[in-house]
Amino acid sequence: MAEWTASQGGVWWDGEGLALIEQTLLPAEYRVVRPRKLNEVADAIYRLAVRGAPAIGIAAAYGLVVALDDAAPSSESDARRLLHEAAETLRRTRPTAVNLAWAVERVLTEAVVHEHGSVASLRASVFGAAEEIAREDRELCRRIGLAGVEALQSARHILTHCNAGALATGGYGTATAPLYLLHERGEAVTVLADETRPLLQGSRLTAWELKRAGIPVRVTADGASGALMSRGLVDAVIVGADRIAENGDTANKIGTFNLALAAAYLGIPFYVAAPFSTFDPKTPDGAHIPIEERPPEEVLSFAGRRVAPEGVTSLNLAFDVTPHELVTAFLTDQGVLRPPYRDAIAALSRQGVS
Ligand code: MRU
Repeated sequence: MAEWTASQGGVWWDGEGLALIEQTLLPAEYRVVRPRKLNEVADAIYRLAVRGAPAIGIAAAYGLVVALDDAAPSSESDARRLLHEAAETLRRTRPTAVNLAWAVERVLTEAVVHEHGSVASLRASVFGAAEEIAREDRELCRRIGLAGVEALQSARHILTHCNAGALATGGYGTATAPLYLLHERGEAVTVLADETRPLLQGSRLTAWELKRAGIPVRVTADGASGALMSRGLVDAVIVGADRIAENGDTANKIGTFNLALAAAYLGIPFYVAAPFSTFDPKTPDGAHIPIEERPPEEVLSFAGRRVAPEGVTSLNLAFDVTPHELVTAFLTDQGVLRPPYRDAIAALSRQGVS
């Protein structure tokens, strides 16, 4: 198996260009794919070859560079037009994770402020902005980890949902960052990973990366989490987020809301781990977060085989919204945020790390 370590994240740019771990193949096969056209990047994001809010932001930022390199526009004005069209294509791929639109906007802003010069110098600015987003995300994950270690205190038995891990970011993940840091310090952390139907990000991806890191992990059926919590097997729940509204309402993988309800009933801390780029001050509350609906087939089949009777369809919401009242604290790159969230979120710096 290739030498991948969690600190590398799920997406990067190297000497050969954009590289993504083809996450649809894990854990059976570790394969790195290299999209060379805009539509290949957009398709990789839509298919969930690259997934997780920060990772799709990084992939989309680099996707703008890929678009420029592939089209090789002959004038700067053509290049600017192309960037705007490419941004629109990338934004449409997945609507819930705000990191994607945020990253595309940040790169475009760089292109707008870039002094008129040449296609080459514009490309250099765009690439620089994408590199900055990727580099920064690595550091944001580490800081989220430190906030998590502080909030967890002596809690060591953690339940998580979906994959908010290294694969979903440019670094140590968000929900997993405190776990990696505690493990590095020699602390005995154990993880229950919800399998996360329908696409099994928990059993396929979270279990894969934590096992590689040597962190003890058990996969559990989504429906088991309430029972596991009530048996005293969970000290805290940590999940990631795709978008956090101005009031703290949080969109994350479908099933997160159920977990938050069970945790609140049982008095178990429920933490949401996310960088500043997942907080969206333009969305007032959860009711305004666009929720991605994916093809019914994803729910009607299992491991590529149809399991529901022919003629039956499904409603496949990819995300749900957890009301802010159910969140014990947000673990962010700028520390632990506690209620009242509207004030704490308003005070978050949008500048990123220096
Ligand atoms: O549909 P996915 O796999 O992209 O959903 C991912 C999640 O819900 C994650 O929890 C979220 O994006 C945070 S990733 C650090």
